[in-house]
Amino acid sequence: MPFFTSSAPAPAALDLAPGAPLLSLRDVEKSYPVGGSTHYVLRRISLDVKAGDFLTIMGPSGAGKSTLLAILGLLDHDWRGGFTFAGQPIHALPPKARTSFGRRHVGFVFQQYHLLDDLTVAENLDVPLEYRGVPKSERQALVADALDRFGIVGKKDLFPRQLSGGQQQLVGIARAVIARPALLLADEPTGNLHSGQAREIMGLFQELNRQGTTIVQVTHSEENARAGSRIVTLKDGWMTEGAEG
Ligand SMILES: Nc1ncnc2c1ncn2[C@@H]1O[C@H](COP(=O)(O)OP(=O)(O)OP(=O)(O)O)[C@@H](O)[C@H]1O
Ligand SMILES: [Mg+2]
Repeated sequence: MPFFTSSAPAPAALDLAPGAPLLSLRDVEKSYPVGGSTHYVLRRISLDVKAGDFLTIMGPSGAGKSTLLAILGLLDHDWRGGFTFAGQPIHALPPKARTSFGRRHVGFVFQQYHLLDDLTVAENLDVPLEYRGVPKSERQALVADALDRFGIVGKKDLFPRQLSGGQQQLVGIARAVIARPALLLADEPTGNLHSGQAREIMGLFQELNRQGTTIVQVTHSEENARAGSRIVTLKDGWMTEGAEG
C-alpha cells in the first residue's frame, strides 16, 4: 500500500524534468573564527545533485555533514561560494527570500529533531502545510493521514517533551515529508529508531524518490546508504569521493 493516499498534495512545482540540475555548489566554504584564527568546517565543496537523485553523505563525526545539509536546506546563510538551486542563484538572494524559497520546496529531518516545543504533535505536522498554503480544510485530513501512517495517532495531542527520542524522530520525519517537498534533506533520520523502523523509513524515502522527490540523506549506516543511488564522502570538511553527479 502506498505510504500516502491520493489526498496528499502534489510535490511542490519546480517544473524540473528528472535529471535536470537541482543543486549545484561551487567552491562553497564555511569557517568559524576560533581564538585569533580561522577554523574551516567546509573546504571548496563542489557538488551537483540532479532532480530525482537519492544521494547519501557519509563521513566521520565532525566532518561537516550537518553543516553542509543546513546550507543545502537554505537554513544557514553564513558561507562563501556559489550555490544554484533549481536555477536560482542562492548566493545572490537576500536571506528572507532564501528562507521562503526553502520553506516552499525543502523538507528537513534534523539530527536533533527540532520540533516546536510549544506545539502538539498534530500542530507540528500542520506547520509545513501552512507554509505551503494548503487550505485548512485539507490540512486536517493530511495531518490525520500522516499520524496514521507513522503510527502516532495516540500521540497527536502530546507535546514533544512528552515523547521518547524515537517518537520525536518519527514526528520529525513525518513533518519533513507531509507537504511532499521537491527536496528532502535528512540528517541521520533513523539514528534513534530500531532496525525494522529504519528499513520502513528507507522504504518510504525510496517510494517518495520514485515519485519524484530528490533526496539527500546523511547517515553512518551502510544499510541506509544502500537505499540511495549515490554516495559522497566528507572528511575534515573536504569532499573526498563522489562529487560528480
Ligand atoms: N559555532 C561553531 N564554532 C566553531 N566550530 C563549530 C561551530 N559549529 C560547528 N562547528 C564545527 O564544525 C564541524 C562540523 O560539524 P558538523 O555538525 O557539520 O559535523 P557532522 O559531520 O554533522 O558530525 P556528526 O556525524 O557528529 O553529526 C565540527 O568540527 C564542529 O566542531
Ligand atoms: Mg551531524
